[in-house]
Amino acid sequence: MSNPVPQTSRRALLLGLGTAALAAPAFARSLPALPTSNLGADTGYWQAVRGLYSVTPDMVNLENGYWGIMAEPVKAEYKRLTDFVNFENTVYARTKIGADLDNVRAPLAEFLGVAREEIALSRGATEALQALISGYNKLKPGDTVLYADLDYDSMQYAMNWLKDRRGVAVAKFDIPEPATRQAVLDAYDAALKANPKTKLLLLTHVSHRTGLMMPVKEIAAMAKARGADVILDAAHSWGQIDFQAKDLGVDFIGFNLHKWIGAPLGVGMIYIARERLADIDPYMADEDFKADDIRSRLHTGTPNFAAQLTVPVALALHREIGPQAKEARYRHLRNYWVAKARELKGVEIQTPDDPSMVAGITSFALTGKRSPADTNAIVAALRDQHKVMTVRRGGVAKGNTIRISPAPYIMEADLDRFVAALAVVSGNRAG
Ligand SMILES: Cc1ncc(COP(=O)(O)O)c(C=O)c1O
Repeated sequence: MSNPVPQTSRRALLLGLGTAALAAPAFARSLPALPTSNLGADTGYWQAVRGLYSVTPDMVNLENGYWGIMAEPVKAEYKRLTDFVNFENTVYARTKIGADLDNVRAPLAEFLGVAREEIALSRGATEALQALISGYNKLKPGDTVLYADLDYDSMQYAMNWLKDRRGVAVAKFDIPEPATRQAVLDAYDAALKANPKTKLLLLTHVSHRTGLMMPVKEIAAMAKARGADVILDAAHSWGQIDFQAKDLGVDFIGFNLHKWIGAPLGVGMIYIARERLADIDPYMADEDFKADDIRSRLHTGTPNFAAQLTVPVALALHREIGPQAKEARYRHLRNYWVAKARELKGVEIQTPDDPSMVAGITSFALTGKRSPADTNAIVAALRDQHKVMTVRRGGVAKGNTIRISPAPYIMEADLDRFVAALAVVSGNRAG
């Protein structure tokens, strides 16, 4: 950080935040040592993590896929930086912020296992993915672009837009349900075979509808073998699961930092493999950055500076809690409620148990109740009568589903309350 910033939060001070916001601050260890076994189920550890969050006690919130609230130390840093940016005003913004924002990329790149020059900040995954889909310049009239029912709606819209923009055919197929790893691979194989002119495939790492996790590496290799590039929607994966970009074999990725990394709302990221930069056009013919600078691929105007500057602290806390520990925790919570829900008659779990196909998000439906009206009624009953927040997700070929998405602050007792409510709503128990 260019200027020393007055501390505005005692808690931030205690945690050692705010002295060097952009230099991956060393947290005074505020958590117990990472458990050496049973990582996802160690109550003491996760109770301490829970203590980092302030969240309404009025509702058990199992709708954390929308975005991930900031932990208190991150929120303190965000407030401090909001004060700082507004106090220092344009003097800071006109002189030093460029270098500071550029430095925000360093810890992200390091954690993702890529070069700083391969990533740029966006205001969310939508912006990053729209820039990739619209900017991908290798399509010719007569080519095909391909996506599946589980992909995110606005990314589907962007793929559909390519029909007029690039003169391509747009093909869509359905992911099988119930999904197994092999069935999913077979579905991608069949779709690529059925659409041999496919040059671009949209792939979602973790589905926002059902939580299904895709075997990205295999699908990307399959696409590549057939001459198609993949744009990966990693809005829900990085932070929910732990991986590095190069593990995936994909050259174009859009990320969110305000979901599972816990940064303030309004921050995402684009990744373009260095050797593929020329295949994405500068955004709206940007001239602010050179054509060999990835930042020319996302021209976002004036962003929320404080939100972007808070990213290193959010990432540092994510790493302090432990990316693998979080992944284990989410899986543990998911398996915990799923095992109990399976005992209820008429409750169908849509997401497979195979640990290579699921992380923390899982969806369910009640038998025969997959219309928008039926699923909305279940969501409303859970929320209004039982104080359990969930969300309906449409767009699944076989019908609507109800998504359960955890957070670091969710405890087993919260899930017990949810399952008790589900028992009533599904007619297994009297209300
Ligand atoms: C799979 C997926 N892709 C993209 C997005 C877009 O993210 P944002 O709205 O934060 O830009 C979302 C948001 O929920 C998502 O779930």
